Amino acid sequence: MPELSSSSPSHSHGTDPAHGAEHAHAHPHEHAHGVLTLDERHDHEAQTYDEMARTLLAQWRDADYLVSPDQIPFANREHVDFLTDAVQRLGPLAGRRILEVGVGGGSLAVWLALQGAEVVGIDVSSGILAVAERRAQVNGVADRVSLVHSPVESFDSAEHGLAAGGFDAIIGNNVVHHFDRDLALANLGRLLRPGAVAVFCEPVLFLPEWTRRVRNSRLVTRRFPMHTHSPDERSLGAEDFATMRRWFARVEWTPYQVLCRLQNFVELSDPMWHRLESIDRILLRRIPPARRVCRLAVVTLALPTKGA
Ligand SMILES: C[S@@+](CC[C@H](N)C(=O)[O-])C[C@H]1O[C@@H](n2cnc3c(N)ncnc32)[C@H](O)[C@@H]1O
Repeated sequence: MPELSSSSPSHSHGTDPAHGAEHAHAHPHEHAHGVLTLDERHDHEAQTYDEMARTLLAQWRDADYLVSPDQIPFANREHVDFLTDAVQRLGPLAGRRILEVGVGGGSLAVWLALQGAEVVGIDVSSGILAVAERRAQVNGVADRVSLVHSPVESFDSAEHGLAAGGFDAIIGNNVVHHFDRDLALANLGRLLRPGAVAVFCEPVLFLPEWTRRVRNSRLVTRRFPMHTHSPDERSLGAEDFATMRRWFARVEWTPYQVLCRLQNFVELSDPMWHRLESIDRILLRRIPPARRVCRLAVVTLALPTKGA
């Protein structure tokens, strides 16, 4: 492991206001439990994943950390289609410098390194980075995976001596909906090499705001609990795509899962999941408005502009 370094997840740095702690405090984020500052969100996120990591580190044996170089490591059946698409969008992997944001337990980072990429993985949780570090060691790619304890909003690769000139690609699986969108996307634009792509797999909800309020209401969540890890995560909506367009010249998205959204409410059996997924593929191909009600999107960003 060349690096397991830390820029404090609670304190930003640099002269650009987008990096500044003051700026972070000026962007409180509303959620069901009130208004959180960016630092509070990072602390909360770190605690959630630190706790998860404590259990994994206590229970896992080396075999549990193994990643096969022959197959993209899917967390579960839901990830197969969209993560395959996302990885293909990165292009050739060997020898490329790839940044994974919200690297979590490191399965994807390690798999990318097994394909020959030089990977930098960042995360706000030091606990989950310890899981990623162990995984890199067990799979023999610790020399090609650098792990940095930092929130994406203030990550500065130069400070860690990493990827001068920008990363050849950036990837994140289920992460942007945890970030402060404006700060994170602005920073990702700075970290990406011009002409390279950043690819994210994210839950999306393009329905009117009142549908979120109904979904989040006690009446509905009592009967159909939310499958979320942190209280302030929020599926990407139209306003987030507008933010992406401020920082990137190319913003494209590919929709996945429509009827599969039922999984948000009830546990679907494998056969039912696969049946619905097949219908969804047809729906999304033949009926363009179905895009507006999809559950997941693979978002591709490129050519950062100077921003508004
Ligand atoms: C849903 S998990 C996904 C982890 C991993 N990408 C995967 O697919 O297994 C979200 C991850 O993003 C990290 N995270 C959340 N907010 C972050 C931020 N602002 N900066 C960096 N990492 C963050 C969390 O600590 C967590 O590891």
